Amino acid sequence: MCGIVGYIGNREIKSLLLEGLKELEYRGYDSAGIAIMQKDDIRYFKAVGKLKNLAEKTKDFKTEGFGVGIGHTRWATHGKPTELNAHPHLGEFSYVVHNGIIENYQELKKELIESGVNFVSQTDTEVIVHLFEKNLKNSKDPMEAFEKTIETLKGAYAILLITKSAPDTIFFARKGSPLIIGTNDKGEIFFASSDAPLISNATEVIYLEDGEYGYANKEGIKLFANKEEKEPVKVPLTTDKQYAQKGGFRFFMEKEIYEQSEVVGDTILGRASNGKIYFEELKEEIIEGINEIKICACGTSYHAGLTSAYLFERMAKIRCSVEIASEFRYKEPLLTKDTLFVVISQSGETADTLEALRMAKKAGLKTLAICNVDNSSIVRLADYTILTRAGIEKGVASTKAFATQVMVLWMLVLYFSQIRKTLSDETIANELKAIRRIPKVVKVKDKLHEKIKRLSKRYLHGHGFFYIGRDIFFPLALEGALKLKEISYLHAEGYPAGEMKHGPIALADSELFTIALMPKTVHYDKIKSNVEELSARDATILAISPVEFELADDFIKTEYFDHPMIEFFEMMVITQLLAMEIAIRLGNDVDMPRNLAKSVTVE
Ligand code: AGP
Repeated sequence: MCGIVGYIGNREIKSLLLEGLKELEYRGYDSAGIAIMQKDDIRYFKAVGKLKNLAEKTKDFKTEGFGVGIGHTRWATHGKPTELNAHPHLGEFSYVVHNGIIENYQELKKELIESGVNFVSQTDTEVIVHLFEKNLKNSKDPMEAFEKTIETLKGAYAILLITKSAPDTIFFARKGSPLIIGTNDKGEIFFASSDAPLISNATEVIYLEDGEYGYANKEGIKLFANKEEKEPVKVPLTTDKQYAQKGGFRFFMEKEIYEQSEVVGDTILGRASNGKIYFEELKEEIIEGINEIKICACGTSYHAGLTSAYLFERMAKIRCSVEIASEFRYKEPLLTKDTLFVVISQSGETADTLEALRMAKKAGLKTLAICNVDNSSIVRLADYTILTRAGIEKGVASTKAFATQVMVLWMLVLYFSQIRKTLSDETIANELKAIRRIPKVVKVKDKLHEKIKRLSKRYLHGHGFFYIGRDIFFPLALEGALKLKEISYLHAEGYPAGEMKHGPIALADSELFTIALMPKTVHYDKIKSNVEELSARDATILAISPVEFELADDFIKTEYFDHPMIEFFEMMVITQLLAMEIAIRLGNDVDMPRNLAKSVTVE
C-alpha cells in the first residue's frame, strides 16, 4: 500500500509534494521519489528509506512559477526497496507513480522487452510508463495513448503520469486503489491517495471511483469512464488531519479491520489465476527433498502458523509442526535438512523469531519468511520471502497482518499440493473459488458491527473469558483471546473445545464468559455438545455460528457456511470487532495498549 501525491499550480512544487508525502508516510516508507515538470523540462529525485532522505537529496532544489509534479512513498510488493525500484518510474520522456498491483505485468513486460524496451527496475509499475510511450507512437494524442494503456492493465492501480508529450498536464486513473483530486479557488489542483495531504490546501475534493481516469492541467479537469466524458462530482473536504489519517475511523485498529477486504485482495492478486497458485518469489525446488515443515513465530503470527499446520497436513500431506520462537531458541531442537523452516512475522524484526531463523540457517535448513515488511532483518536473512502486502499496520493489536498471513499460508498449502500432486484439480479449483471470495467475506457489514457494539456492553467484567474452538478454530480461539487481552486488559484464554472437560470446566459459572466458535463445516455436533456442557453449568455463552443455538445467552449469526476457511475468516472479523468494542467501552487506548510495542525487537 503506497502513497501518491500530485500538484498543478504556481506554488513551490517540491516542498508541496514532500509535505504531502509526509502525510502519507503511514501508508509506506521504504523509499520515496518526486518528478516535477515545468514547460518541457522534467527533474526527478528518488531516495531509499524514510522521507527525510529524499528531503535531504532535494534540499538545494526548488521551483519557481507554474508547473506540475508527482510524488510517491513506497511499501514494496514487487522488488526490493532500492532507489531503482523507487517511484517515479521513467520512460524516455514520461514519469509515472502507482499504488496497487499490476497483475499482468509479467506478460506486458515480456512483450515490451521483446519490442526493445530496457527495464531498470524489478517493479510491476515500470510497465505502465513504457506501455504509455509505446502506445503514444500510434495514438492521435497522449490522452488516447493513456486510455489505451490503462485498458491493458489488469489488477489494482491508482496512477499519476506526466510526460513531455503533454506539458503542464497530469494524467490520472483509479481502479481498486484510492485516488482523490483536490481543488481550491486559486485554480490549484492536488492529487492524493487519501484526504490527509489535501487538508489546508484544497477546499473541495473529487473521490474518484473505480474505472475513472482523465487528465488535469491549468484549464481544469477532464474526467472519463468507459471512454465517455463525465462531470466530476465535487464535495467539501474534511479539515481534521488525524481523522483523515485514520480515514474517518476512531482508531487505526478499526481502520485496519475495515481494510482487510482490500489488503487480502492485494495478497491474492497475481497469485491465484487460471486454476493455479503462483508465487513468483518461489521456485518449485523449495519443496524438493522436504519431508517436514517447521513453522516458528510469536503471538498472532504464531496463531497464523498453527492454523496453517492443519492445512499443510490435511491437503499438502506434509508433516507440519509449529513452535513459539522464544521456546524454540533454547530447547536445543533437533533440526534435519529435510525440513523447510518457515518464519512468520509482520514486522520482520521480532528478536526471538529472528534468532530462530538464524539457528535454522546455521543448521543448513532451507528457510522461508512470510513477512509484511520488505528489507526487514528477517526478510534479508531468509532464503525465500513471501510478502503479505498488508500495508503498514499501525495498531499494535495485529489484524490485517494476521488475515494476510493466513491467506498467504493457505495459498502456500495449495502451491505445495500442486507440486506434490496431493489434491485433484477439482479440489484445487474449489479452494481457489473459496480464496477469491474472502475479500468479500471479510468486508465489515454495518449491521454486524452495530450488533457487536451493542453486545460489548455485557462483557466488561466477569472473572474471565474462554474462547473455544476445534481444528482450525482452535488457533482462531487463541487469536481472539489474544486480541481481547491485548486491548481490554481482561483475562481471556483460547482453548481446544474438547479439552474443557479436562479441568477448565471447573471454572464454569455465570461470571465465566465463553465465546464459542461453532462453524457448521467443522465438527459442529462435537463443538455443540462441548458448549452444552458449559451452558449446563451456567457459564455465559456467546455463540458465533451460522446455525441458531438456543442455549446461547448471546448469539452472533454468521452468513457463510460452505467452506471451513470462509467460516474462519468471517469469525476472525467478529472476534476482532468484539475485542475492539469492549476495549473502547473500557476507555482504553486501542491503538497503543499499555505495556505493548508494535514490534518486540528484544528478548
Ligand atoms: C499481535 O496482536 C501482537 N501485536 C503480537 O503478538 C505480535 O503478533 C507478535 O509480537 C509478533 O510480531 P511479528 O509478527 O511482527 O513478528
